Amino acid sequence: MSNPLAPGSLAGKRALVTGSSRGIGADTVQYLADAGASVVINYRNKEARAAKLADSIRAKGGSALVAGADLTDPASVAAMFDQINAELGGLDILVMNASGGMESGMAEDYAMTLNRDAQVNLLTAALPLLGPGSRVVFVTSHQAHFIRTTETMPEYEAVALSKRAGEDALRAMIPALDAAGVGFVVVSGDMIEGTITATLLERANPGAIGARKEAAGRLYNVSEFAAEVAAAAVDEVPANHTRYVGDVSGFDQSEE
Ligand SMILES: NC(=O)c1ccc[n+]([C@@H]2O[C@H](COP(=O)([O-])OP(=O)(O)OC[C@H]3O[C@@H](n4cnc5c(N)ncnc54)[C@H](OP(=O)(O)O)[C@@H]3O)[C@@H](O)[C@H]2O)c1
Repeated sequence: MSNPLAPGSLAGKRALVTGSSRGIGADTVQYLADAGASVVINYRNKEARAAKLADSIRAKGGSALVAGADLTDPASVAAMFDQINAELGGLDILVMNASGGMESGMAEDYAMTLNRDAQVNLLTAALPLLGPGSRVVFVTSHQAHFIRTTETMPEYEAVALSKRAGEDALRAMIPALDAAGVGFVVVSGDMIEGTITATLLERANPGAIGARKEAAGRLYNVSEFAAEVAAAAVDEVPANHTRYVGDVSGFDQSEE
């Protein structure tokens, strides 16, 4: 892992990364903690992994809290922010990483519930804790960001539509965020090698990852993509509020 953030550069800052017990969220929260931020590791199911990650951050001299919350349950989100407020007094960085919708056995509209409605509820509930100069980062995929202009694999379409609906709903909050002095950045990345999502899509469409890799030139891995997400928490906000990670030439950018 190569941290884009200088040691100590986030000293005194407080950061929450949703869905950070594993995967992209876990690497992102580690970069932020290694740069000196007091981090909050949010998990839904993976409490033991979240606790282990928090221990490893503390063992390096960092500061980490663990906060369980199912983002689709507004009461547990409210309890998480009460905990953060009580223990840290506010937040400077919110990374909206948690995502889903390909799980089996969920309600038909679960993707929309998690990727749109729960994200809007999360940011609305977080706003009172975010002071001027703070930053919100929403993580998405090129396949979702460009879904209105570029088709994707059928297995991912419902997730892509729900994540884009979530992105649009969050973008509609930019005036309120601006008024509060809060920066907002969408990080959009191509498929990430080694993730569960990529593995599921490859299983349904053998050769899909190889084809994307060939078309894009290369694909990012989890730690490389997480480094971009962490950097988006501190770099200047792009004019269109979008940080593209990896090749976008295969996507129709007429609406950008
Ligand atoms: N995978 C890719 O190829 C790819 C490419 C581009 C962008 N991205 C974006 O990167 C982000 C992370 O992707 P990933 O592949 O690392 O995801 P992942 O492996 O599926 O992990 C999802 C995370 O979200 C959490 N989560 C799921 N449902 C939740 C809920 N209802 N409440 C709270 N937390 C919940 C999970 O927590 P638990 O483990 O505790 O359940 C887990 O930590 C997503 O926003 C995704 O769109 C991914």
